[in-house]
Amino acid sequence: MPSVSTESIAPSSLTPAAAPSAPSAPLTIRPARTSDMRAVRALVTPLAERRILLQKEAVSYYESTADFVVADLGERLVGCGAIHVLWEDLAEVRTLAVADDALGHGVGSALLTALIDRARTLGVRRLFCLTFETAFFTRHGFAPIDGQAVSPEVYAELLRSYDEGVAEFLDLERVKPNTLGNTRMLRTL
Ligand SMILES: CC(C)(COP(=O)(O)OP(=O)(O)OC[C@H]1O[C@@H](n2cnc3c(N)ncnc32)[C@H](O)[C@@H]1OP(=O)(O)O)[C@@H](O)C(=O)NCCC(=O)NCCS
Repeated sequence: MPSVSTESIAPSSLTPAAAPSAPSAPLTIRPARTSDMRAVRALVTPLAERRILLQKEAVSYYESTADFVVADLGERLVGCGAIHVLWEDLAEVRTLAVADDALGHGVGSALLTALIDRARTLGVRRLFCLTFETAFFTRHGFAPIDGQAVSPEVYAELLRSYDEGVAEFLDLERVKPNTLGNTRMLRTL
């Protein structure tokens, strides 16, 4: 797929739900803006309530605006995803979410492709993901891992982070109820 912000995907098959008879707008994958973050939170909240994604405070969304790309259908966002750098050679795919009525049209794949491009641009060599969607991520080159993805030295450094996502990456005891059933996956870039 081509690069992040100019991509158009299957416009004939993805019609805005709010205006079903309107012509389909092209879907654009682009970097998020602060004004998108309410909609991003609205996409994530139902998934967080089902413990599929990690729920965060509103402030955390604004703080991580620069991590996000969004799938923009013109009058609404139908998906989002973020890349969070963990260490010099390692980043995590986070908060990848597609609206229920847009699933299965390639939006998630386009977002993930954009995030992988972004990770390459940032210079990381490995991408981590904690997910229930193992088939989807396997199709995108990820494979399950056992144990930690970092050395004991880097693990000790990461323990200093206050980020809940990092605690989940480290598989800390206190966050295990949140990550139950998830698979730890890694892709080399
Ligand atoms: C994982 C997730 C983002 C995938 O989103 P999606 O938009 O449905 O993803 P895609 O459409 O690219 O791929 C899904 C399926 O649609 C199919 N598909 C892809 N492009 C398509 C297209 N243009 N038309 C029709 N179907 C298509 C794919 O074959 C794929 O099939 P598979 O599930 O057997 O792999 C979505 O299920 C989701 O939001 N899950 C909950 C949150 C989550 O778990 N996130 C991951 C952890 S951060």
